[in-house]
Amino acid sequence: MIICRSKSEIEKLRRSGRLVRQLLEETRRQARPGVSTLDLERFVEGRLEEAGAKPAFKGYRGYPCCLCASVNEEIIHSIPSERRLKEGDIVSLDLGVILDGYYGDSALTAAIGEISEPLQRLMRVTQECLDLGIRQARAGNRVGDISWAVQQHAEENGYSVVREFVGHGVGRALHEEPQVPNYGQAGRGPVLKPGMVIAIEPMVNAGRADVKVLKDKWTAVTADGQYSAHFEHMVAITPDGADILTEFDEVRTAPGATLTMQEGRL
Ligand code: MF3
Ligand code: CO
Repeated sequence: MIICRSKSEIEKLRRSGRLVRQLLEETRRQARPGVSTLDLERFVEGRLEEAGAKPAFKGYRGYPCCLCASVNEEIIHSIPSERRLKEGDIVSLDLGVILDGYYGDSALTAAIGEISEPLQRLMRVTQECLDLGIRQARAGNRVGDISWAVQQHAEENGYSVVREFVGHGVGRALHEEPQVPNYGQAGRGPVLKPGMVIAIEPMVNAGRADVKVLKDKWTAVTADGQYSAHFEHMVAITPDGADILTEFDEVRTAPGATLTMQEGRL
């Protein structure tokens, strides 16, 4: 069953969404050459506590940390470690929070110092895949319209999309229905209705789509060792389009406010 949330529930999800984005932006600023991914975990853990929020990932199916920090050929679900970031790396920072019983879930890929032109392009195209997916997230469309838009743009640019992991509904649990794959056919899948809240999260590989999961049972890496990028937003479906719940510094596509960084600050 796909839940349609009330206006007040969506405002609660927006609070969680904004918090998670705020913390991700702060964490991105900490992610510099010489900093370990465990340093980032400690930073975000402290900030979560200050914000009065709980981590959504820690303890989820036994995941040990608040943050997933997936470097280079790691796609998602990398457990923070002593691994130090170095100039030219890219790192997917994925964070989930619970505030007042409602989940926030978002991810971005950060560049460490100067990165190569091909990596800049991989990051840009993955962000564009997310934007194109979000543009399809409107009432009357189907989940497959999002999936198709994401896959199409990635493949058109010579990349591939990961199939083993998908976007998802989000609300009072981290993962709710429906699944939101990053591949599929337009016009297929569940119909999107006002009040549905979904997380769209393209994972785009520079090489082949195949994935391996490491012995730690979590870290997903590309089978061919090529790099991968990942971005994630939570959106609410409105009659007029997607209302992005995990941002506060850009013009939203929904009617109403342009939120500034200032207003978004907690
Ligand atoms: N954003 C990811 C997801 O929605 C992160 C989950 S990490 C986990 O699946 F540890 F909670 F599994
Ligand atoms: Co997610």
